[in-house]
This record gives sequence, structure tokens and C-alpha cells, in this order.
Amino acid sequence: MELSINQRKYRLPDAPDRMLLWVLRDELGLIGTKYGCGEGQCGACTVLLNGEPVRSCLTPLAAAKEKSITTIEGLERNGNLHPLQEAFLKVDAMQCGYCTSGMILASAGLLSRNPRPSEPEIAAALEGNVCRCGAHPRIIEAVRLAANGGVR
Ligand code: FES
Repeated sequence: MELSINQRKYRLPDAPDRMLLWVLRDELGLIGTKYGCGEGQCGACTVLLNGEPVRSCLTPLAAAKEKSITTIEGLERNGNLHPLQEAFLKVDAMQCGYCTSGMILASAGLLSRNPRPSEPEIAAALEGNVCRCGAHPRIIEAVRLAANGGVR
């Protein structure tokens, strides 16, 4: 089967029931996508499927086929970080960093639907993404910064 990941095509053995998270990490080396709970509860494994955030630990390959998959490795363009990546760095919106790629991809999905979200809207969009370090206030600040024109 063929998957389209970060604008590149990958040919993989046909395994429609295999979860996308394990293919990304174990077969393709895209280890920016993290394994947290494996049960859809933490958001560490979030990637974009046609621009919409999904839990890759619960996404079988059959559901990802013929869709555009974006991981944290695919957000930069021509060597330039995505505005959300710049903003997370600017406001130091991570501590251990384990949740960061999932937070950024969930935020990217939000900003593509709603480019100027309010603080409650950001909080609601990230509600399912767990940060055990308690960096949520800075994460919300980073998303606001990216939505308001980003780092200059
Ligand atoms: Fe997928 Fe936690 S690892 S939601």
C-alpha cells in the first residue's frame, strides 16, 4: 500500500489494520510522533490527516490511505520552521518536550480551521493533549503568538 507522508510517497507492505503510529516510528523513523498512552487519551501521537488532527495510535493504515499525512517533521518549509514551531521556541512552551509535537499539530489543525482563535477556543482544541509538566499556559501563549502574526 502507498502512504503520502509530508508530501512524499512511501510504499509499505499491505497491513490495513496496523496503526499509523507504529509505521511512522518503527518503519519510517519519523520519531517526532510520540507514543504516550496508545489508547487515544494523551494526544502525544497526534498527526494531521488531510489537515485534521488525529490520534495516530488509533488510526489504522486503511484510514490513512489516499490521505495526506503530516507529522512534525513535515511542518517546516524550505528550511523555515512553521510559525507554531517558532512561537513554541520563542515563549519556551515546553519543558520535557514529550507532548510538543502533538500540541503543535493539534494547534496547526485548529489554526487551519480558525486562524484567530480565542484563548478559550485554543484551550478547548488542546483539551485532549496532556502536558504533565504543566506548560499549558505557555503553550496557549505560543498558539496565540502564532495566530497573531508569529515571531518577527
Ligand atoms: Fe495516542 Fe496517547 S499515544 S493518544
